[in-house]
Amino acid sequence: MLKIIFLILLAFAAPAFAKDDAEIKLTPESIERGRTLYTQYCVACHGLKYYRGEDAKTGLPPAMDPQMAEAAFGVAPPDLSLMASARGRGIEGATYIYRLLTSYYTVNGQIRNKAFAEETKTDGAIAMPPPIPMDDPALKEKARDISAFLLKVSDPSADERRGLGPWVMVYMILLTGVLYLLNRYTWREVKKKLKG
Ligand code: HEC
Repeated sequence: MLKIIFLILLAFAAPAFAKDDAEIKLTPESIERGRTLYTQYCVACHGLKYYRGEDAKTGLPPAMDPQMAEAAFGVAPPDLSLMASARGRGIEGATYIYRLLTSYYTVNGQIRNKAFAEETKTDGAIAMPPPIPMDDPALKEKARDISAFLLKVSDPSADERRGLGPWVMVYMILLTGVLYLLNRYTWREVKKKLKG
């Protein structure tokens, strides 16, 4: 019985120990900073069709006309509403965006991106120039906040579900205990008879 409870506990607790090196936190402050940074660094090219906010009741359109952007960059900048969910489950997708924004480098003067290379299994030649300069001292914090914001946009109820997790766990443990007692109660007569 104890062993079962222990295993249940372990199964629920294990993901909490998984290391997250980007340290993206879905706090309201980070998400709010990310929203501001998005309108500073990303909205020129990328829209957020499905984003809903006080100031954007029907989504955020990109500032640049998509056809013009395609002519300029060779690839049309995709809408980012669902990007965080498209590039991984939960925090994984946000971590990808964080890595995308922070892993630019050049080869013979040509722009390359490490995260993009891994995702697309190519040499990492990406049509998007680095949105935040690689030598910006606040690059990591900015990338973190933007990623948190984009995860929130693509999955608005994520933290609600996450907040529910511990309660589901408590419920399961209590239920296990009750079922165990019920089981003993149900079989007590039979066991007594068997013993003799
Ligand atoms: C100057 C225009 C421009 C700006 C500004 C810009 N992007 Fe992009 N972005 C692009 C283009 C073009 C692509 C398509 C790249 C490709 O497929 O090679 C792209 C692609 C992406 C992708 C998809 C990558 C993939 O895995 O397919 C993400 C995520 C992204 N941008 C995030 C951002 C974020 C976040 C910002 C703001 C910090 C930003 N972009 C700012 C032009 C831009």
